[in-house]
Amino acid sequence: MGARAEAPTAPSEAPGRPPPTILERCTTGIEGLDNILGGGVPRGNMVLVAGSVGTGKTTLSLEFLVRGAERGERSLLLSVTEASDKLFQNLSTFEFFRPDLVEQGLLLFVDLPVIYDKLGFDREELSSEELDILLRAIRDLVRAHGVRRLVIDSVTSLCYRIRRDEQIRDFLLRLGEILTDEGCTSFLISEISPQAGRYSSRGVEEAIVDGILLLWNARRRGDILRVLQVVKMRGTSHSRAQYVIELTPIGLLMAPHLKGGFVEEGS
Ligand SMILES: Nc1ncnc2c1ncn2[C@@H]1O[C@H](COP(=O)(O)OP(=O)(O)OP(=O)(O)O)[C@@H](O)[C@H]1O
Ligand SMILES: [Mg+2]
Repeated sequence: MGARAEAPTAPSEAPGRPPPTILERCTTGIEGLDNILGGGVPRGNMVLVAGSVGTGKTTLSLEFLVRGAERGERSLLLSVTEASDKLFQNLSTFEFFRPDLVEQGLLLFVDLPVIYDKLGFDREELSSEELDILLRAIRDLVRAHGVRRLVIDSVTSLCYRIRRDEQIRDFLLRLGEILTDEGCTSFLISEISPQAGRYSSRGVEEAIVDGILLLWNARRRGDILRVLQVVKMRGTSHSRAQYVIELTPIGLLMAPHLKGGFVEEGS
């Protein structure tokens, strides 16, 4: 009688819980930020970049787009207030900017008012129907170009045209769903005053977004320093420490915020 082959046995299950899922990261390309986020923003997250005037919101977000485009990820700036050619001009003063990325179609600039015109939106306030149409237009734009990184500068200006808080909530929830489905990681710029005590002008945006990067000015012996803190980021553990940031020609640099002698803006 021939020997019977042993039936293979299933490897014994390791005791305890299964290993945690690690979400795919969208590496921002800003080294300090990627370090404190454990590798980058979880892909598909919608992140609020909140801060008062001149704190570096636009520069940080533009660098996020440029670094993405360098990696071959199509990156789109949706400009709401400032004309994108002016933003383009400002960006040209940074060494990290590569105009060839624009020529290759990897870095795209679109003015939201141009979209409003095309869609025939001529009233100051956007109706619920117009918001539906706008969402579809953004989805089509992202889909048509295969956009993997999107910045809206600023979501505050966009929301000025939305009357009711429930409409803002609904608009942002659906925008987040669309962008996540498309695998697009987004930064929404939020203009806040240091005294506001919240991260967005209407207080709605911050509850919906997956992450919040907070930027503010701090004074030390007459100097104004820029400070950044990750307030929340769904899908990853992260540092919540304060970092001093420097906007340099080669990009944003970060260092731990050593306490002492500082007066927070608004205090
Ligand atoms: N080429 C450059 N190199 C280094 N720093 C620069 C350069 N160009 C501008 N800056 C700095 O960037 C600052 C502007 O930052 P930025 O426009 O990103 O801030 P913001 O938070 O978007 O401001 P706002 O609230 O006005 O939109 C300038 O005040 C200046 O200090
Ligand atoms: Mg700005």
